[in-house]
Amino acid sequence: MIKVITYGTYDHLHYGHIRLLERAKELGDYLIVGVTSDNFDIGRGKINVQQSLIERIQAVRDTGIADEIIVEEYEGQKIDDIKSYGVDIFTVGSDWVGTFDYLSEYCKVVYLDRTQGVSSTMIRSSDNKVRLGLFGDANTIEFGKYFVESKQVNGIEVTGICLENNQPNQSKKLSIPRFYNHKEGHFFYEKDKVITDNECEYFDNLQGLLEKCDAVYIAGHPTLRYGYVKEALSAGKHVLCKSPTALSPEENRELSSLAKDEGLILMDAIKTAYSTAYNRLVLVAKSGRIGKIISVESTCTSLSDEQDIYDSKSFWNTIDMWGPMAMLPVLQLLGTNYINVSFVSSKDERNESFDAFTKIDFLYKNAIANVKIGRGMKSEGSLIISGTKGYIYVPAPWWKTDYFEIRYENPADNKRYFYQLDGEGIRFELLAFMKKINGARQSTFIEENISETFSGVIAEYYKGYNTIVLE
Ligand code: CTP
Repeated sequence: MIKVITYGTYDHLHYGHIRLLERAKELGDYLIVGVTSDNFDIGRGKINVQQSLIERIQAVRDTGIADEIIVEEYEGQKIDDIKSYGVDIFTVGSDWVGTFDYLSEYCKVVYLDRTQGVSSTMIRSSDNKVRLGLFGDANTIEFGKYFVESKQVNGIEVTGICLENNQPNQSKKLSIPRFYNHKEGHFFYEKDKVITDNECEYFDNLQGLLEKCDAVYIAGHPTLRYGYVKEALSAGKHVLCKSPTALSPEENRELSSLAKDEGLILMDAIKTAYSTAYNRLVLVAKSGRIGKIISVESTCTSLSDEQDIYDSKSFWNTIDMWGPMAMLPVLQLLGTNYINVSFVSSKDERNESFDAFTKIDFLYKNAIANVKIGRGMKSEGSLIISGTKGYIYVPAPWWKTDYFEIRYENPADNKRYFYQLDGEGIRFELLAFMKKINGARQSTFIEENISETFSGVIAEYYKGYNTIVLE
């Protein structure tokens, strides 16, 4: 008996898949089909798969062509499978020519012609394409990354850009990472390179941009954000807005209910909240691996360009820029019902309103948290979650991490966790936004009460409540 094996994701099973399975079966007497698990696909950067593993397996089973179906879960599994199932022929489509030649050491390798004109990617992109507008401050490198990362998400397309205060006319340029190097798997940044008109349309004002899109990413100045979000929601557009969406809890609530009334999605944008490593860390911490959580220490700093500090109108204060990111693990792990919050801040002498450094202390009934943030101070950007049995350590910069560690009294019990971090989480954030818009089943990454608490804590700070200012 000749045993044949083939592998694939089989998302939205289509004619090309069926033709491949039929021809694979004809190569022998018994066909084994390996269907990729969700984690395996995410690990290899295939993040757009829409159907669950169960649905994809069922679709392959329904073709009646496979004699046996297995799940592909790890790198290198093909060699194990070929050996343990006694496979004679390995086959895949011609889009993989050369990639699997190394398997010829174990069995015959056959590449079958790929069917032209159909793919899962095409099917995913064709339904409900979201036209996304980008609105914000071109000086933040992150803004440009949204343009590039959108290219990795099926079903979303950046159709327009509007720079806050029409920055190009003020000779500020949008620094965009333009070229993706597939071989090396990273982007090249070309300074002062502007996206040209044929890549994307430029608009002078938010209103113009809103007319040409279904959804908008808003990263304008913190003091003006509430107004921008309101304008976008009132124009019937879904909004992904950099946290905090507003500088008071009342305004934050108002925006949430406006979105609900209009049947629109309003989502907080904090890239880390959508990254796999961070999400797993929260789950591990909540599942009791370090016992009862007693303390969370979170530090985020980035030294800013000196000149910017004088330009107080466009400058973002530390608490607005870093506050939500640094508070995220505190509020997600300890909740929003703290007993007290207090602040210590150090102002920059060149710009009185700019908090070069701010420390936020939270007191809970059974835990404490401290958050240190700075744009005029540099520190170790780590995250430490301490519990009664051990602690979780995330090295600097924790908000970009693909790794964390659980440490115990006995170092032999320590455990390390590694994950793939694609696009610093922005890619997953855009994917989550797109899925929410299309009504797909989707977990909430930043809950409404947490978004409101970001605005609430920041409002307390600006009121001077419980605040000490260092000399
Ligand atoms: N395949 C094919 N013809 C197509 C599409 C896929 O022969 N038009 C083959 C692939 O070469 C592979 C198998 O079907 O051997 C499973 O492919 P999979 O990656 O699941 O499907 P794609 O449509 O290529 O998916 P995507 O667009 O996400 O890459």
